[in-house]
Amino acid sequence: KHIVLFASGSGSNAEKIAEYFTDVPNAEISLIVSNNPKAGVIERARKLHIPVLLFDRTTFYDTDRITQLLLNQDIDLIVLAGFMWLMPTDLVRAFPNKIVNIHPALLPKFGGKGMYGHFVHEAVAAAGETESGITIHYVNERYDEGQIIFQATCAVSHTDTPDDIARKVQALEHAHYPRVVADILASITK
Ligand code: GRF
Repeated sequence: KHIVLFASGSGSNAEKIAEYFTDVPNAEISLIVSNNPKAGVIERARKLHIPVLLFDRTTFYDTDRITQLLLNQDIDLIVLAGFMWLMPTDLVRAFPNKIVNIHPALLPKFGGKGMYGHFVHEAVAAAGETESGITIHYVNERYDEGQIIFQATCAVSHTDTPDDIARKVQALEHAHYPRVVADILASITK
């Protein structure tokens, strides 16, 4: 089975998933797609010997180019790990329930366009939440609205800064995303 990872940032989740899959039989990370030539994920991919495909916005949304590419690569599962663009509609339609994303908060709260990265943790701290966490969900055509697959929570105290919350949430991401991705992949029959 073949997985493609989409990442725009440092790629710590992509790296954890790739490392996890070195021990999973009959499954591999075939490709990493990014939209940021300066993304840390590119260096991590190089060390992991995973090819990287860089897209600019025009190419990424150019008709069904990315969809055809991934269909030709016989991809079974698309995993978003900090990818900041919306999936093209034809890609979502070509891969029904085969695109997953991780959001660094407990959807449906603190989700939607613009609610990513540090902004989420600032909003959680500002709202005085007593917990935060991660949401792994299927991807559809609207940000953060697909069916929820898995959530894990962490406690938030009123003295926690957004950085404190980010650290706790990232620990949950690294602890759970690789295994949840492996479970989803195992549940996909060709
Ligand atoms: C994580 O916070 C993830 O929840 C969000 O984007 C960030 C990716 O971080 N989707 P990294 O690039 O995997 O370190």
